[in-house]
Amino acid sequence: MAAVDRPGSPTAFEEVVDDYDAARPHYPQALYDVLPPLGAVLELGAGTGIASACLARLARSLVVTDLGPRMLARGLTKHTWPGVRCRAEALPFRDGSFDSVCGAQMWHWTADPAAAEVARVLRPDGRLLLWWNEVSSDAPWWLRQQERLEAGNPHYHRDYRLRDYAAEVGAPFAWTEPIVLPWTRTLSLDVYERWLRSKSYVQELSDFEGFVAASRADLLEAFPHGQVVEPFQTRLWVLSKEQP
Ligand SMILES: C[S@@+](CC[C@H](N)C(=O)[O-])C[C@H]1O[C@@H](n2cnc3c(N)ncnc32)[C@H](O)[C@@H]1O
Repeated sequence: MAAVDRPGSPTAFEEVVDDYDAARPHYPQALYDVLPPLGAVLELGAGTGIASACLARLARSLVVTDLGPRMLARGLTKHTWPGVRCRAEALPFRDGSFDSVCGAQMWHWTADPAAAEVARVLRPDGRLLLWWNEVSSDAPWWLRQQERLEAGNPHYHRDYRLRDYAAEVGAPFAWTEPIVLPWTRTLSLDVYERWLRSKSYVQELSDFEGFVAASRADLLEAFPHGQVVEPFQTRLWVLSKEQP
């Protein structure tokens, strides 16, 4: 894979909580429809809680966690379930506490001990559920944006998230092919700009404002009425804890 693993920094989101909360894409209902029965859920890297409310409706119980105090605090302003500040690599929970561990758009930030740590807090027949949104477009405005990002940030490659995450998690989990769910969202140019500002690899650009302005000009040309239509795919991996 030509991609660099983790453009940006895992704590970069702390500086952009408002933009993140206002503009990040949610996940399609089809995702929640295909999740297996969840039972007691631990959500890792829950951030501002984009997935948490839907998980709470499906779970018997929910505990949310995040490394970043501001991201976690924002999520907890909206919800009543318990929130714990911790890293996925060092979870302050007893062995076998959860039926499911979920991570939305976050596993690429974790380091090696995370898989073993998740296996420890899962019950013997527990599951790790990981998913990501990825823009899936070949529109000229999108391709130009990607070219500018690659030119301006040596750590960024447009395919950096198109990888086999389950294979990277590895033992002690077994998994099947990811479930791929296509969908689109429509959003105003202003919200789109906030989305750009919330991305860690955009924040790293030396000409950050120039990049945002050029992207905005391209979008105005492609969507003169000011409503951006973005095609996504959400990819979900279901990993089952293997019996020792
Ligand atoms: C791209 S955001 C995803 C947030 C949320 N799950 C969502 O779907 O919008 C990544 C989140 O992971 C958190 N994070 C990064 N590294 C982490 C780690 N090692 N353990 C736990 N959380 C981490 C960040 O603070 C951030 O809130």
